[in-house]
Amino acid sequence: MTNGTSQTPALATTIKPTDLRGILQYVPRFQGQIFVIAFDGSIVADENFSNLLVDIAVLRSLGIKVVLVHGIGKQIKELAELRDEPISDVYGSGATDASTLSLAIRASSRVSHVVLEGLAQNNLKGVITNSVRALPVGIIRGLDHQFTGKVERIDKEFLGSLINGAVVPVVSPLAFGPDGRSLRVNSDLLAAELAEALHATKVIYLTPQAGLIINGELRPQISVEVLRKQLADAPDQIAELSRSKALNAVRAIDNGTPRVHIVDGRLFDSLLNEIFSNEGVGTLIYGNDYQQIRKATRRDVRFIYSLTRAAVKREELVPRTQQAIEKNIDQFYVYEIDENIIACVTLIFYPNHPQLAEIGSLYVLPFYHNRGIGKKMVEYACLMAKERGAARIVALSTHSFGFFTNVLGFTETDKSALPESRLKSYEDSGRNAKVLTRALV
Ligand SMILES: CC(C)(COP(=O)(O)OP(=O)(O)OC[C@H]1O[C@@H](n2cnc3c(N)ncnc32)[C@H](O)[C@@H]1OP(=O)(O)O)[C@@H](O)C(=O)NCCC(=O)NCCS
Repeated sequence: MTNGTSQTPALATTIKPTDLRGILQYVPRFQGQIFVIAFDGSIVADENFSNLLVDIAVLRSLGIKVVLVHGIGKQIKELAELRDEPISDVYGSGATDASTLSLAIRASSRVSHVVLEGLAQNNLKGVITNSVRALPVGIIRGLDHQFTGKVERIDKEFLGSLINGAVVPVVSPLAFGPDGRSLRVNSDLLAAELAEALHATKVIYLTPQAGLIINGELRPQISVEVLRKQLADAPDQIAELSRSKALNAVRAIDNGTPRVHIVDGRLFDSLLNEIFSNEGVGTLIYGNDYQQIRKATRRDVRFIYSLTRAAVKREELVPRTQQAIEKNIDQFYVYEIDENIIACVTLIFYPNHPQLAEIGSLYVLPFYHNRGIGKKMVEYACLMAKERGAARIVALSTHSFGFFTNVLGFTETDKSALPESRLKSYEDSGRNAKVLTRALV
């Protein structure tokens, strides 16, 4: 993985232990999903490593499937120093000569074993696999990379059978060439490749750094487009330690993994807090699933009005005049296909309750039902609400509460969850809508 200069970990005492109730409400959303978790070699050597394995046991017990990948940067450097042998490349992205490969195999066996020990201590079954096939990188700009490999194929069936059998696969940064011999691969890249092959929903890089640091500042969230531009325009502004992770995060998202996290593996509870809490301790890099969603403008008023009229008639939505839509057009987001608006949603904030946002007027044209559009609109609204500082979202529904609870992980609450200013219009409407809510993770 990337280089090993370490920073002082933030104080563990600033992190609240993650509350079980908080975790449980996300279980339906994550259950059955695959997370690829990649440790830097230095994290396997860190005193917090045993706590990370407890966190992984928690993820497994919640029905989340995990695949572990590890680096060996720290260990190969230490071995080389101990034996006074030069190494041609530490992180598996430059050239690997024969003696570096031999050290990598030793370092990797040791690190994989430590991971297996940690799994055993948590009563988890683990298996070191030979599931990654690679081809030699070859000669690049005149430099023969010798025993450095690029991933050619991942044995999805093999890994899938382990995961489904409640076994945690441990994948080392050594792959196997066409002749079965070892090739060194970079573990950041390997994690991205595994996520693509296994259709994982997350890659989580555990590093000895607070997260993705750009220009000296930790970025709690960044979209793949912004990160791509940063890598193209000014890669040097990204802290060296996380540059390879940034590159591979973009690769993973481009290849279909929705989210990549970079988290400080030295912090107690960091993994669970990043996944389950609103206080995300590291960096979330997210793909743009939402190209077709945009903020509405005044030119859309007429279309939104006619789009939602049928739902108003069926009492699925609260009636709104064109003037009311126009007055509140800033609250609307629309979904376009071929420049036709086929869905809308509103996002409302309350001036005296910055932690709360409300989703409303969700409507998808029936022809487009069951294509994931309603879900995308709600998730997008949640992302926007979170970006504006909200910690919780509510939705009121008379007909589609099952959609919010079964599909989107909302829970039913009561009207006391609404701010006083909203309570009045809720009661005046006489609709007796169910109040649904979700924390914004
Ligand atoms: C509710 C609505 C927004 C869903 O939009 P959609 O684009 O079809 O939803 P998605 O494709 O993202 O999700 C489809 C899933 O939701 C489920 N779903 C849809 N409506 C549901 C409901 N009322 N109760 C329970 N589940 C529901 C579907 O069965 C499907 O489940 P599956 O993925 O397990 O097959 C859409 O039906 C609609 O516009 N309804 C009328 C307006 C309305 O009631 N709005 C809500 C006001 S708050």
